[in-house]
Amino acid sequence: MVLAKNLYGSRSELLLAAGTELTESLINKLILAGCEGVYIGDEDKPEYEIKGIISTRLKENTVNAVRSFFKGIERGNAIVTSYSFSTMSHLLDDIIDEISTDKNAMINMVDLKVFDDYTYYHCVSVAALSIMVGVAAGMNRSGLYKLGMGALLHDLGKIFVPKEILNKEGPLSLEEYEQMKKHSQYGSEYLKKQNTLPLESIIAVLTHHERYDGTGYPLGLPHTKQTLEGKIIAICDNYDAMTSDRPYRKAFSPSEAMEHIMGNAGAMFDPKILEIFLKKIVLYPVGSIVRLSNGKRGMVIENYPYSFMRPKVRIISDNPNDPEEIYDLYNDPSLLNVTILGIYKPNDTM
Ligand SMILES: [Fe+2]
Repeated sequence: MVLAKNLYGSRSELLLAAGTELTESLINKLILAGCEGVYIGDEDKPEYEIKGIISTRLKENTVNAVRSFFKGIERGNAIVTSYSFSTMSHLLDDIIDEISTDKNAMINMVDLKVFDDYTYYHCVSVAALSIMVGVAAGMNRSGLYKLGMGALLHDLGKIFVPKEILNKEGPLSLEEYEQMKKHSQYGSEYLKKQNTLPLESIIAVLTHHERYDGTGYPLGLPHTKQTLEGKIIAICDNYDAMTSDRPYRKAFSPSEAMEHIMGNAGAMFDPKILEIFLKKIVLYPVGSIVRLSNGKRGMVIENYPYSFMRPKVRIISDNPNDPEEIYDLYNDPSLLNVTILGIYKPNDTM
């Protein structure tokens, strides 16, 4: 096995380069370092390289800027706060550029995050996802900036929630949950005082936990009073959280997360925005191991826009001497009767 993507540490340092052979001792070291997983590839098949929604370097730089902005506020360091805000703002422009140049881009991977840095990676992922939906919804450049800023800072208020509640591993008591729910207010109040953010971004921070049916918090707004930015961020926030490992559960696959999200159309989420989101999310990203209806399993190696149920799959055989078998479910008419049943889990019986 070789590493399919560069692996970066929490300070953006390169830990391992793509192509590195993953030996047992290296894998053990990665586990000890808190790494939840890596993308693996095949030495001889570099064409199966996995691309993220934005480049890894841009993502890492933005994570660093968000981290230093949050830390600057926590430590009351005005110079760090204002410097990292302007860095963040420039990087957001770059993210918008990258995403808007490829309108057919799909969300073809789930990022693996080093757990300690979940908060910052989550902010950047939600921003990238939101901008992608914003582009597909036809928002203009300044709208995308306001949306992106709201998304990057949607959970800023968590720095004002007591650490013992924030980091608690077990379920929260009712009182603790009430405290946790205040983060959207705390964040928007802080940003309002700073006077550097567009009003739309501040409203998005305040309303990212409102629900379509009016039962969300903090205001319990009906959907007619909610903004487009807040509604987009609500969907992307949920999707990214569900597809991430958390201390209390493993990550859901994109197809499982989408099932939950679609089940909440009209309750938690705006059905019209959900429709746009759905067209952008690849259900079985490159690298997913899937179960097929003919009893075989395989790794997804390519997805086709607008046909996410029928990707190209490399069949995995238990016998290393078997010749390579590629199923092009979209283009090969002889495979019309083969469908994907779901994500393969190691204890599934085939
Ligand atoms: Fe939140």
